[in-house]
Amino acid sequence: MSRLIICLFGPQGSGKGTQAKILSQKLNLPHISTGELFRLAMENKTALGKQVEETINGGQLVSDEITFGLLKERVANLDCSEGFVLDGYPRTIKQAELLNQCATVSKVIFIEISDEEAVKRLSSRRHCPQCGAIYNLYTAPKPAEDELCDRCKIKLAQRADDAEESVRERLRRYHAETEPLIDYYQDKIVKINGEQTIERVADDIAKSVGMLQLNQMLEQ
Ligand code: AP5
Repeated sequence: MSRLIICLFGPQGSGKGTQAKILSQKLNLPHISTGELFRLAMENKTALGKQVEETINGGQLVSDEITFGLLKERVANLDCSEGFVLDGYPRTIKQAELLNQCATVSKVIFIEISDEEAVKRLSSRRHCPQCGAIYNLYTAPKPAEDELCDRCKIKLAQRADDAEESVRERLRRYHAETEPLIDYYQDKIVKINGEQTIERVADDIAKSVGMLQLNQMLEQ
């Protein structure tokens, strides 16, 4: 059977990371986020981390070659042999073409939200520096106590690229360079309304992935 490769696509703040975590648990497949891989490299101060830090904090895209190199290495791991959930890759047509060299995307889930909603969510996004849990001060999930992680009870932090100027630059790049992928993947894309509760978005995604799995089984 071919690998199940689900790509979560959408503007910054649409909930790709939130939904990728839920979906990868449901499917028992690894969640692969190029943004997370870059942040890990920055935290560990590796050569790659130092190379990309300024680009990422300024809201720019890392080069296609560097990003694909990182992704290719990750998806060659044994845990990806049955498939994986991609979050934040590809973001350019070039990246999609490079991906075709090592994987065939099964379905692209496009989570749609407005720019206004994206800016609102990202300016209020926080994370726990210890366990990595993601919160939102105004939308969901909210921390039980003001700016403290529910589990670790330590102060929540804000990503450097969630500063308003960086968010606007990231959205500008999204519209210019990532949106053309909607046409590129026209036969594989399914649109989901991202301006619903996290649970409703997750249900809509599960339904469309369930249909895909059923079709794959019928084709065998
Ligand atoms: P990355 O980490 O992928 O950031 P991003 O694409 O900017 O996406 P975000 O993490 O901002 O948003 P999200 O859609 O995952 O939303 P989330 O679930 O967190 O990439 C960071 C950087 O790395 C890039 O800018 C670039 O520099 C570089 N990079 C990464 N991949 C690259 C690539 N392929 N090529 C080149 N460069 C690359 O949710 C956001 C907030 O909203 C959270 O607080 C959450 O709690 C809340 N929320 C989620 N869902 C809902 C909902 N339904 N209702 C209300 N609130 C919600």
